[in-house]
Order: sequence, then C-alpha cells, then structure tokens
Amino acid sequence: MFNFKPSQLAQPGILPDIDRPYGLPVFNSIADMLDSYTGDDAAYILYPQRVAARAEQFLAGFPGTSLYAVKANPHPAMLKILWSAGIRHFDVASVREIDLIQALSTDARLYLMHPVKSRKTIAYAYQSGVRDMAFDCLSELEKIIAETGRARDLNLHLRLAVPNGAAIMPLAGKFGADWDHAIECLVAARPLVKKLGITFHVGSQCLDPEAYRSTIKYVRALLDTAGIEIDTLDCGGGFPIQYPGMDVAGLETYFTTIQAALAEYGFSELEIFGEPGRALCAEGGSTLARVELRKGNDLYLNEGSFGSLFDAGRFAWKHETRRHRPVHASQQTWTPRTQDQQAGFRFFGPTCDSSDVMAGPFYLPDDIREGDWIEICNLGAYGQALATDFNGFQSETTVAILEDNSSCNPPLASSPATSRI
Ligand SMILES: Cc1ncc(COP(=O)(O)O)c(C=O)c1O
Repeated sequence: MFNFKPSQLAQPGILPDIDRPYGLPVFNSIADMLDSYTGDDAAYILYPQRVAARAEQFLAGFPGTSLYAVKANPHPAMLKILWSAGIRHFDVASVREIDLIQALSTDARLYLMHPVKSRKTIAYAYQSGVRDMAFDCLSELEKIIAETGRARDLNLHLRLAVPNGAAIMPLAGKFGADWDHAIECLVAARPLVKKLGITFHVGSQCLDPEAYRSTIKYVRALLDTAGIEIDTLDCGGGFPIQYPGMDVAGLETYFTTIQAALAEYGFSELEIFGEPGRALCAEGGSTLARVELRKGNDLYLNEGSFGSLFDAGRFAWKHETRRHRPVHASQQTWTPRTQDQQAGFRFFGPTCDSSDVMAGPFYLPDDIREGDWIEICNLGAYGQALATDFNGFQSETTVAILEDNSSCNPPLASSPATSRI
C-alpha cells in the first residue's frame, strides 16, 4: 500500500528504486511526510543516518564481530540500512529469519543463536549453510548433532545462565546452563565440534557495563574448573540506549570494559562476538500515531499495545514523545488553548480491548487534539517487530526520514549514511 501524494518525496524520480532506496518512500522531514500522507493507520519512521551511525560505532569500537540480533527489527529496510553500513553477521532464531537474511544477501553470515530450536529448524539451517548454533543442555546438543548428520564442521556456542544484574528487561530464567551442567555440556561438546564457544546475555538494556566484566570473570572460573579451552566467546546483546529516566553510560564505556575484561581473564586471542539488537536500531526508528479522540488527559490513538507500543502497555515504559501537527490542520481557524505548556497523558490503543492501555504519563503540549500526530521515540527496536494485526489494526506504512534533526535525539555529529542514499 502506497499511502502518499508524490509531491513531498525527497527524491522524486521515475524509477521506483531511485525514489525508494531502501524499498521505502523517503522524505526530508516528518512535516513533509505528514503533508502527503493519505493513509489512516499509524506509520513507522526509520532514520537511516542514525542506524548507520550506531552500526559504524559498533564496527569501530566493539572488540569483536557484531552480529545484528534480527529479532529487534527484521524490517527489510532496516536490514538494508545495516547492510549498507557494513553489518555482515546476523543472529537469527527461526527459519523465517534465515530466509529473510539470505534474501538480503547470500554473502551474509548467519548464527542460529536461539538455544532451543525445532529439529526441522536445525536441519534447515545446516542445509542453508549455517554452521554456528547455540545450545544450553545435552538434549539440545544431541538434537543438533543428529539433525546435522553428525557434521564435523559445527561451531557450537554453549549459552550460560547468568543472573540479571542491571538489565531493565531481564532475560535470566528461560535459557542457559548453570555451572555444573555447563561443565557437562562443554566436556560433551568439545570432541564433536570444529569450534567450541560460550555465549551469554546479561539482559536487555543493561545499565551496568560491569555486568559484562563479572560474566567474563565467571566464564574464566568455569573453564578453569572444567579444564577446557574454548575458541569463541560471545558477549550477547544488552547494550543500552538512552530512554527517559534511565542513567545510561555511552557505548564506548561498554566496549572498553569488555575489552579490558577479555584481556584480564585471558580471552584476548579468542574470536569474540557481540549480538546487539536494541543499541543498533532503537534510536533509528519511531512510531507516528494519530490522536483520534481526546477525553481529558486520555488520548485515543490509532496505535497501541497490540501494535508497536507493547513495552508501553505491558511494562508501562514512558517513551519520549513529540507532537507533530500537520500543516493543513494548523491552518484551521480556531486558536489552540495553550501553545507550549506540557501535560501528562495516558494513551489508549485502537482495539476494542480494555487492556490496550499505556499508562505513561507521556508529556505533550496541553493543547493536543484530534488529528494531531504523536511521534513515540526510539522504537526502532522491539516496536514494529512486536506489532500484531489484532482487531484489524495494523500499519503497512514505513518511511525513511533523511533530516535527522527532526528525530527525538540530539543531532548527530556527522551524517554517515547520507552519501549512501
Ligand atoms: C540470543 C539473543 N541475542 C541478542 C539479543 C539482543 O539483545 P539486545 O536487544 O538487548 O541487544 C537477544 C534479545 O533478547 C537475544 O535473545
């Protein structure tokens, strides 16, 4: 569905590939986009420059290979932006994610890092050329060995159970081998694999870089006890971004902490991986939702917790928000109540379900009204990726915005992706 008048496209042209370099309509600003938007649904915004800047930061600073965790945002345009920025390695979990990345490029390297997979998925991955897989118990190891026909070219990564130290989204509990079982698994896997690795995840949006250091220290103690050497160490995801009310150290602090810990605990010579999801793409996307009705300080939107606002609904995340008033709407004759005064609002999503509520409060101009659009910031990760079509509400509109200053974050120092667009 192409819900736009053509006039405001950033690069009008005849060939679709020139108009839509990531397969998306491209606009200079949100104002331009809203001016030509004829659709009725919410819209998803991508900021290619910002995604490219984060990718370049990981490629330059992370002391190893960065695997993009595809689950964070599998939109083909996001994948193309990351690919153009130099990301070549992808952490996938399913057959569909494998297909998606292989459609992006046959040169992409895939890692099936989901610790529990169906037998069909394992077989499909191996036939598709995937040689790196995670496991967290002997039964999963047995499945991988059986479904790959006892292949001798496997790189297997044992997922360790680690406590949730400082992550806003804990991942502890579901996956991972504890100390004793980890030793059993390492001993059993060593003779069966080409490369043996350890992988861990300190939890998503991890606010303390020291969580990586203490886990690396734990890995050293585990290996010393097991009397086993490994070939690879995967530090997982968890790298945070700045959300409102969270005290977040810069990514460089995480990189230097990890690098120092790898040296301190004797892992400098190993092949090192990281699996960033959120930190690569959260700031590179937002959701534009329209106000359908205002009741006091409750705003009824065309997007909700069954759409890209899952975290705002289920975990009461208070995302940063910006009001955008379409030009044609501001030409109406009546004067807004107050221009700049902010008030706290609660959001309701478009479905008939009473649980479709996002408590907030979200701070917006007090005069917000029906027809205004709200940009809900930094939803490039785990936003659009989690959206459903429940109750017939879904958005098929994703656009790229080139003018990064109109996003929710401080301007970028440079514009790395502009030249590639
Ligand atoms: C195996 C694995 N790797 C990487 C990630 C990405 O984590 P994050 O988005 O916190 O960087 C996840 C997220 O849950 C994951 O499960």
